[in-house]
Amino acid sequence: MNSPQKPRVVSGMRPTGKLHLGHLVGALRNWAPLQEKYDCFYFVADWHALTSDYANTAAITTHAIDNVADWIAAGVDPERSTLFIQSLVPEHAELALLLSMVVPIPWLERVPTYKEQQEQLTDKDLSTLGFLGYPLLQTADIALYDGRFVPVGEDQVAHLELSREAIRRFHQFYGEVLVEPQPLLTPIPRLPGLDNRKMSKSYGNTIDLTDDADAVAKKVRQMYTDPKRIRADIPGTVEGNPVFMYHDAFNTNVAEVDDLKSRYRAGKVGDVEVKTKLAAAMNVTLEPLRARRREVLARPGHLREVLVEGSRKARVIAQATMERVRDAMKLRY
Ligand code: TRP
Repeated sequence: MNSPQKPRVVSGMRPTGKLHLGHLVGALRNWAPLQEKYDCFYFVADWHALTSDYANTAAITTHAIDNVADWIAAGVDPERSTLFIQSLVPEHAELALLLSMVVPIPWLERVPTYKEQQEQLTDKDLSTLGFLGYPLLQTADIALYDGRFVPVGEDQVAHLELSREAIRRFHQFYGEVLVEPQPLLTPIPRLPGLDNRKMSKSYGNTIDLTDDADAVAKKVRQMYTDPKRIRADIPGTVEGNPVFMYHDAFNTNVAEVDDLKSRYRAGKVGDVEVKTKLAAAMNVTLEPLRARRREVLARPGHLREVLVEGSRKARVIAQATMERVRDAMKLRY
């Protein structure tokens, strides 16, 4: 049961594709334990997906269902948390519009991801109002639920800072109606991709939560390691080495990991052994997730029901917030 005494946590994920280990380590492993102490609202940010993927919307709903299956597989519990779809709660758009009245455009242009993404995603025209307004929609996502804490990765801190500034500016005009959110930073360092670049679908360097045991083993064999170790008897570097970062993230046998690290540093272990043990450990960790994922997807219509019901609950709260906002803005008729 949701208890109203618990402070509220809000976080969202864009349904832009299959989830990979970066999502598991960077978000879901954080989302699940937060359910103990917080009243958690986790949602599919489908309008946010449109800010960059507006030209191709056909797969958004499929990704949404598929992603939520992974959330639940990773321990997000629809009985304890409210899981919903952003676009089923149209108040997100209403509050974002009202915020857009008071937030100066240069504040949005200064958000680092704005220029970065425009430069990187050159195949898309991101000179749209929707893309510029991304952080305002995100502010609305959080403020509608009085979200106090927002679990996010490092890359989202600038967005959250903008949210805080936007809410403070809103308060200057209309009084204190909203809650200023704080980031809850993921404790685990970011997991690199197979090639040691940032893990991203567009780099083709991910391990997906839908990959089976063989696919994981195959990908691990191709993983980047210490490039100066051309032979097994050359001492290697453990720090910042993706293979050992993955061992730290997935191998629960700490003694085995310590032994591999010390032999690696001494040039007394081959990459094949390090990687074989890694793949085995990863599959031990991932198999229960795969099983739970299969289970939830085997119940036809189940996830849709969870999301429609969650969205209905979320909307009741969002509407109450909008009543407060209308009062504060003197938009009462
Ligand atoms: N911008 C977030 C991301 O890309 C997704 C998101 C949208 C979000 N709205 C949010 C995260 C509200 C936290 C709270 O990861």
